[in-house]
Amino acid sequence: MASQKKIACIGAGYVGGPTMAVIAQKCPQCTVTVVDINQKRINVWNSDTLPFYEPGLDDIVNTVRGKNLFFSTEVEKAIIENDIIFIAVNTPTKDYGVGKNMAADLQHWETIARQIRNVARSNKIIIEKSTLPVKTAEAMEIILNTGSQFHFEVMSNPEFLAEGTAVNNLLSPDRVLIGSRETESGQKARNELVEIYKSWVPLEKIITTNTFSAELTKLVSNAFLAQRVSSINAVSAICEATGADVDEVSKAVGADSRIGAKFLKASVGFGGSCFRKDILNLVYICRMYHLHEIATYFENIINMNSFQQQRFVDNIVQSMFNTVAGRKICMLGCAFKACTDDVRDSPALSVATTLIAEKANLVISDPKAMTNMKAALGDLKNVEFIDDPYQAAKKCHAIVIITEWDVYATLDYKKLFDRMVKPAYLFDGRNMVNRKTCYDIGFNVYSIGKEPLIH
Ligand code: NAD
Ligand code: UDX
Repeated sequence: MASQKKIACIGAGYVGGPTMAVIAQKCPQCTVTVVDINQKRINVWNSDTLPFYEPGLDDIVNTVRGKNLFFSTEVEKAIIENDIIFIAVNTPTKDYGVGKNMAADLQHWETIARQIRNVARSNKIIIEKSTLPVKTAEAMEIILNTGSQFHFEVMSNPEFLAEGTAVNNLLSPDRVLIGSRETESGQKARNELVEIYKSWVPLEKIITTNTFSAELTKLVSNAFLAQRVSSINAVSAICEATGADVDEVSKAVGADSRIGAKFLKASVGFGGSCFRKDILNLVYICRMYHLHEIATYFENIINMNSFQQQRFVDNIVQSMFNTVAGRKICMLGCAFKACTDDVRDSPALSVATTLIAEKANLVISDPKAMTNMKAALGDLKNVEFIDDPYQAAKKCHAIVIITEWDVYATLDYKKLFDRMVKPAYLFDGRNMVNRKTCYDIGFNVYSIGKEPLIH
């Protein structure tokens, strides 16, 4: 069991909140304070609802909040009072200046580095939880230690949780990665962090590396995962052209134990706050080191993903006689994946904006993500939000499935069909409906990587 430790985390988002809740639960002798400049977000963490939907998280938060897990906006107090400080602030793609649309925007991280240096009154261990460019820890050490009377040991401990399964990922991680220096203070800091994690993670799953390797591993892991999705999506286009079936190909390819079955599900394209951003970050780093061929190699993962999303929406317009103007289209699912309410970089956004630009009237339904989707689309005209899929599909010409919510596999498609304008179209961006049944009901069925079934 980890000895008594005082831990703070700056950034109470999708990563900071859940990771700290699990540390607090597994290390009851530690006190964990999560701080954020967003007062609204902290208020929600301190209320009966959580800031986002994450299965199982409320149970954990309810057992520890107010005991050894605290949420607050007092960032400086947390810096002063705690010895170990995780940084889990957002590191989005830069949308201005040098590296625009490629590099990670490090302004929040930089602000915090300076704030820590200015207010700290003792030595600290600083842990990068955010995903950052390689060598950020080194830059942070320079900012923190230059001219300071205290010592700041910076380590990299990237987070690999996936949204929708975050609790399980945190409770039973495939690995915990800790990057640190091999100096005496680096080893001491690493041991402190290992001691926390070994309260519930088997030692053989705690991988220790140098700091740069840990930072790079995070970017590369996301690139490898996204690359598999882009590869199978590339194959889906070949399947549609040739009559092969992408699910059959995926199953047979994934049966090779060297390849494995996971992350080979063809789709409308990957989304989420991480894949695109982290690959762009990796591409930018490659370019900085003049590794242009490597940059192009990784960049194509994103190009393929954009192509897949465009191909999907082009197919909708072309199949419906090259115009959707004035026609009602029902979008089932807008979260970037099932079991989350997150719509960041969701394929739903690009599909919705293209269909609206084509003058379609869009009706969006999702079990959890409607509020975030409304905020993301802003004041776009011609969009309605209706919870009940059967109401949403009323008088629509087409249903477009974007998110793989289980409920969409078991809807009564006959009931949906009966409420729609004919001919009725079904565009399944997740290959989750029973194609034959839907075709027999009367739908024209378009799947990813399969021959369409058209009446
Ligand atoms: P998020 O946007 O949900 O949360 C970040 C929080 O940091 C926000 O609440 C913001 O208000 C706060 N913040 C920003 N500047 C601050 C400051 N100066 N002081 C205090 N708080 C500040 O982001 P997230 O999804 O939790 O991601 C955080 C990091 O973790 C990113 O680098 C991301 O790439 C990485 N990551 C995310 C995931 C994921 O699934 N979301 C998984 C692994 C890694
Ligand atoms: C990802 C990484 O998995 C996680 O390790 C990292 O910490 C953060 O980024 P996340 O973005 O939350 O997690 O979800 P993930 O399950 O990886 O899915 C990403 C996207 O790929 C989703 O849009 C998903 O629907 C899509 N996807 C995934 C597919 O289209 N096909 C697949 O086979 C797998």
